[in-house]
Amino acid sequence: MAHAHPQFSLGPGTYAVPMSLHADNRRRLAERLRGRGVAPGAVVLLQGGEQRCEYDTDREELFKQESFFQWTFGVKEPGFFGAIEVGSGRSWLFAPRLPAEWAVWMGAIRPLAEFQAMYAADEVRHVDELPAVLATLGARPLLRLRGRNTDSGSWAQPATFEGIDKFPTDDEILYPELVECRVIKSEAEIELLAWVNEVSSAAHIEVMKRIRPGLSEYHLEADFLHEVYRKGGCRFSAYTCICGCGPNSATLHYGHAGAPNDRVLRDGDLFLNDSGAEYHGYASDITCTYPVNGRFTPEQRMVYEAVLAANRAVQSAMKPGVAWPDMHRLAERTILQHLVRGGLLRGEIEAMMAARVPYLFMPHGLGHLMGLDVHDCGGYPAGVERSPELGLKSLRCGRALEAGMVITVEPGVYFIDALLEPALADPKYEPFLVADVVRRFRGQGGVRIEDDVLVTKTGSRNLTKVPRDVDEIERVMATGQREPALA
Ligand code: GLY
Ligand code: MN
Ligand code: MN
Repeated sequence: MAHAHPQFSLGPGTYAVPMSLHADNRRRLAERLRGRGVAPGAVVLLQGGEQRCEYDTDREELFKQESFFQWTFGVKEPGFFGAIEVGSGRSWLFAPRLPAEWAVWMGAIRPLAEFQAMYAADEVRHVDELPAVLATLGARPLLRLRGRNTDSGSWAQPATFEGIDKFPTDDEILYPELVECRVIKSEAEIELLAWVNEVSSAAHIEVMKRIRPGLSEYHLEADFLHEVYRKGGCRFSAYTCICGCGPNSATLHYGHAGAPNDRVLRDGDLFLNDSGAEYHGYASDITCTYPVNGRFTPEQRMVYEAVLAANRAVQSAMKPGVAWPDMHRLAERTILQHLVRGGLLRGEIEAMMAARVPYLFMPHGLGHLMGLDVHDCGGYPAGVERSPELGLKSLRCGRALEAGMVITVEPGVYFIDALLEPALADPKYEPFLVADVVRRFRGQGGVRIEDDVLVTKTGSRNLTKVPRDVDEIERVMATGQREPALA
């Protein structure tokens, strides 16, 4: 439906995303390119995602828009192109020309005027008109998106269409500038990310209240997915839910097809729930860890409080100008201090830092930029190098914090056999590891505490709203309306 102030929403009770969010993103991009001296006659050309089918079948996957295109245009259908003239900031959308049969199987074919009203682009034409429109504009040159994602190593593929060889193209300038625009969130993007976070936070609390021994891990995954979809209209989650209990909580990316959240929860287990909803492409990424039976043992409490102290120390220190690798080190030092107090480690903190002892307990990075992608782009722009050190080399962001970034703070302590077994046999670690105590903790899994945090002008703001103190968690769990375990 056309709307005076076009919005995306799933209807009553869900968030209405104003399309002005994307118009503002386009304005920011054009302004940034002009500031880089790009010719006013240059035209940004982006190609949206295509509908895909499973393997060799005709079974269509549920379409999800490519993130750069989503940021720029907020279009929910496949097969679109979009253009922005750098000088004027004027924008065009190009919709696929659908066959008449489409209306039989998929519903009425939207006239272009309807797309124009839905997406608030200045003009909407058909994709087959793209070469002619670009020729009228001059488009000198066409700026295309080509660049490498620093987490996956995969390349963004530049837009292409039949006849593109008639236009001069520049595949260099656009990617780093568009990435920088995505790194700094606008007010409208922050509001949306905060809302998705609230929906996910509420779902985490609901799961926390329902957990009990006898359920399987996937029952909690199902509850989380149900809550965010039923209450928030979040049809996608930002990544596969990691719902590991007992030793599975130490498997960093548990929940994949080969380990499908299928263990039965036992009295005495810890449960690690790393789950986040997504809405209009915007992600959340939250981890809560707590005991299945609602009461921490003294050992679980010691490990949990080490991780919580690291999480809090980082959030207190975060502000513009602070280097993210220094925050990783701060989390590591805090964890080491607690593990010394807990009797697992001995020796000087700085000697352990130099020997990379923290890596044995937290092999992953402290956190990553988050936005349209859960691991958002922009962690290592040109000139920012990745540390080769154990632990730090897994950090997805190597830069200094800036106001408007949203980044996860997700320290953890895990007892991972694949790391501890060789470490306990390695004389290098002998001065630091209290072997019999470390062995006692093996098999107990791990703890991660993950918040999504906005960097503000003066510090930080936590968008995640879940119980974090041990006492608070135990209180919330005690109030839970626990359903009987499924047989
Ligand atoms: N859920 C994936 C991550 O925490 O990065
Ligand atoms: Mn996570
Ligand atoms: Mn994360």
